[in-house]
Amino acid sequence: MCLRNPITGRSVGPCGMLILATFYSFIICFAYFYYAEKQGALSRGSFQLNSRVPQCNHPRCYVYSPTLVRRSHRERNETLEKSRQKLLVPVSVPDHRPFQLHCDTCSLVTSSGQLLGKSAGKDIDSAECVIRMNDAPIRGFEKDVGRRTTVRVVGHSNFRTIFQNKLRTQYVHFRDPLTRAENVVIAWLYATNIYKNPAYRLTLNYSQMYRNVTFFMHTLAMMQHNNEAFHNETGITRTQAKTWLTTGWHAMLLALDTCDEINVYGMVYDEYCQDHPNDTTPYHYYLQEENKTRSECDYYRRSEERLNSGHLFVTEKYIFGRWAQKHRISFHHPVWKPKVYNETSLDTPFMKLYREKRVKAKKLSAADHRDENSEGDNGGDATNRAGPNNGQIKRSPSSDDRNRRKEKEPDILEEQDFMLFGRANMGIFGVFKR
Ligand SMILES: *[C@@H]1O[C@H](CO)[C@@H](O)[C@H](O)[C@H]1NC(C)=O
Ligand SMILES: *[C@@H]1O[C@H](CO)[C@@H](O)[C@H](O)[C@H]1NC(C)=O
Ligand SMILES: *[C@@H]1O[C@H](CO)[C@@H](O)[C@H](O)[C@H]1NC(C)=O
Ligand SMILES: *[C@@H]1O[C@H](CO)[C@@H](O)[C@H](O)[C@H]1NC(C)=O
Ligand SMILES: *[C@@H]1O[C@H](CO)[C@@H](O)[C@H](O)[C@H]1NC(C)=O
Ligand SMILES: *[C@@H]1O[C@H](CO)[C@@H](O)[C@H](O)[C@H]1NC(C)=O
Ligand SMILES: *[C@@H]1O[C@H](CO)[C@@H](O)[C@H](O)[C@H]1NC(C)=O
Repeated sequence: MCLRNPITGRSVGPCGMLILATFYSFIICFAYFYYAEKQGALSRGSFQLNSRVPQCNHPRCYVYSPTLVRRSHRERNETLEKSRQKLLVPVSVPDHRPFQLHCDTCSLVTSSGQLLGKSAGKDIDSAECVIRMNDAPIRGFEKDVGRRTTVRVVGHSNFRTIFQNKLRTQYVHFRDPLTRAENVVIAWLYATNIYKNPAYRLTLNYSQMYRNVTFFMHTLAMMQHNNEAFHNETGITRTQAKTWLTTGWHAMLLALDTCDEINVYGMVYDEYCQDHPNDTTPYHYYLQEENKTRSECDYYRRSEERLNSGHLFVTEKYIFGRWAQKHRISFHHPVWKPKVYNETSLDTPFMKLYREKRVKAKKLSAADHRDENSEGDNGGDATNRAGPNNGQIKRSPSSDDRNRRKEKEPDILEEQDFMLFGRANMGIFGVFKR
């Protein structure tokens, strides 16, 4: 028996032929699915791949509904999207109506352990509007945090972690009339391609499923504006600081636009942790029983001292204190009155470290310039040339900025994971890799 590989023409045995056949049929099958997916055949129902998905009980099994997403893609009005992305208010998903809430008084409820045992619930609920963040729960904490939620602000990178596949959490925040939010606002925590972001797609899905909640998202203009607010206050851009603004930052800015008077609950002032070195208040008022929460001050301190990533809780609070002098913002539990802030220089631990680093880098680069200009003279002075970090420090500030921008932020990595594992799987198998 003489079998030949149809491509190479070399003869192979029956076993080799079997392997080849399997290999080619895989390729053909894959190409076909790819083509069908591209043509939208899957969404037109010529395949019933999704019909078995509802029985999937695996915690990572995300029921992707191509029909829903595709239909709304087909119906996308890009003219409308473009014009609405310029608004400085959130827009609803999917129809892009502007967020029009206005409240005389607002309670901005943090998720901090500071709220435990303070019985602030009644005060919180007495405001016209109550703003909460992420998945901060109500049930079991009513006495301390109140019952009502007018707006829940969720950072986009938390959105999937919190809600995707978590039917119980979705029930609590989107369906249960006792605990659900009236409005959910997604804040984009860094520049992202909104309509391609998985958080947006998930919001599309939820906006169809949970009709009693109105879903909104920050616009591109808001994303830029909120970053600019950080730049204006600190003198450096968010990318230079290598930070992600917190959900609290976005919630505060939303509150400033929405409310005439803001009462903030559970937010400490910038130097609180310095003044209370032994404070072990948990970072979140919830997750205590599971011991998943950490000390707020520990976390704030560590984040503030990192120069390369993370949240700048202390710096942000310094800025909130400044804003409280210009706007009607007051702080409860702990109560604190804004001090006299230095308007020209922001002196938080992060800013000090950042400036020190810049000064050092400048000195080094000046030294390098001298080296270059007096080539040969200093040739033997190897100690003057910095070690492995040399290349990084030598860059001029402008190219430095550009390089920082190019750097991958941890969240973007997470998204790339999604691209690699999620997208391909999603269309064909309806399963998300998390
Ligand atoms: C949205 O996703 C959920 C699973 O998270 C799924 O059960 C539901 O069918 C989807 N809804 C729509 C309208 O596609
Ligand atoms: C898209 O939206 C704009 C602005 O609302 C509207 O004038 C236009 O008719 C819409 N186009 C379509 C195709 O619906
Ligand atoms: C919306 O709320 C009403 C009243 O509480 C309830 O009857 C209805 O089922 C809810 N709809 C959805 C989609 O949750
Ligand atoms: C930042 O400062 C500029 C110049 O003063 C101002 O025009 C702009 O509105 C400020 N942006 C924000 C978000 O505060
Ligand atoms: C914090 O703890 C240290 C050692 O346990 C103690 O010496 C110090 O007095 C405490 N500080 C405050 C402000 O309670
Ligand atoms: C949480 O910590 C406390 C005290 O450290 C311990 O008694 C308790 O068993 C822990 N709970 C869980 C769920 O690990
Ligand atoms: C603000 O900070 C700058 C730089 O550190 C300093 O020169 C200035 O005196 C400070 N102003 C006040 C009012 O403290």
